[in-house]
Amino acid sequence: MAFPDTRLRRLRRTAALRDLVRETELSPARLIAPLFVASSAAPITAMPGVSRVTISGAVAAAGELAALGVAGVLLFGIPDQKDAEGSGAWDDEGAVQLAVRAIKAEHPRLVVITDVCLCEYTSHGHCGVLRADGGVDNDASLELLARSAVSHARAGADIVAPSDMMDGRVGAIRAELDAEGFAELPILAYAAKFASAFYGPFREAADSTPAFGDRRGYQMDPANRREALRETELDIAEGADIVMVKPALPYLDVIAAVRAMTRLPVAAYNVSGEYAMVKAAVAAGAFEERAVVLETLTAIRRAGADIIITYHAEDAARWLAQT
Ligand code: PBG
Repeated sequence: MAFPDTRLRRLRRTAALRDLVRETELSPARLIAPLFVASSAAPITAMPGVSRVTISGAVAAAGELAALGVAGVLLFGIPDQKDAEGSGAWDDEGAVQLAVRAIKAEHPRLVVITDVCLCEYTSHGHCGVLRADGGVDNDASLELLARSAVSHARAGADIVAPSDMMDGRVGAIRAELDAEGFAELPILAYAAKFASAFYGPFREAADSTPAFGDRRGYQMDPANRREALRETELDIAEGADIVMVKPALPYLDVIAAVRAMTRLPVAAYNVSGEYAMVKAAVAAGAFEERAVVLETLTAIRRAGADIIITYHAEDAARWLAQT
């Protein structure tokens, strides 16, 4: 049946009817807020509204997020000292490890996820250790990443999330967690992580800009969707419990493709540059922040993400509570 018998506007007539037939739900229970934990608090200029926090600041932020019904936090640590190996990453008294313990003690229901990577901890800013020729040594990095994940597990993390893009890291982390008595700890793999210019503001936040070169030797080429599916298949075969696509908005097609190829939960990371773009446009008076953020997050859910990691989490949760 076509017009005039069929009129799609009938179900758009009132807010109640639109609510009744909405296909995609957005709820704070789907959102994860990233937190940058450091020894001193400081605003991040490239990300208006986001700051580095101390351990006590992280506990306070976690409390506000929990009260708003946000599912969890993703922790990044900024160490005071960096070295060539990134040894701060597996320091049991490091910022992330201390923050995990403090947050879990105060807010046990909040899901605490830790980012497992070396780039915040290495003096050269790469996500793994370097060979003599300056290239990133994949296999030598695996052991260090696994060691970091175990340290996060000992601190009480609910999920570990490797973001380094070394080949084989999910399997290496799974094996080490199991050997150390953490067989029940899930891994959220940054499965399809692209070498994206949208990470720019994060690198200021985490002080992790590579000292030379770039990350294209390990992160994915933005042009490749089939390869994203291969990466995802491999991470699943190695034992990933949740797979992630990152960034989110410029990669909705990849989210949809990953959603179609697996039964695992799919996460998407609405990254720092996506956030900064919205903030800059709002500051320029281009559009209304609330409407754009909720539309963006809904679009990421519609593409197939079960879980969204976003710097808008707290604002979005507040706005959702008002609607
Ligand atoms: C660390 C890591 C990065 C992000 C998350 N984990 C930076 C990078 O790979 O350069 C980016 C997050 C964001 O931009 O919000 N490897």
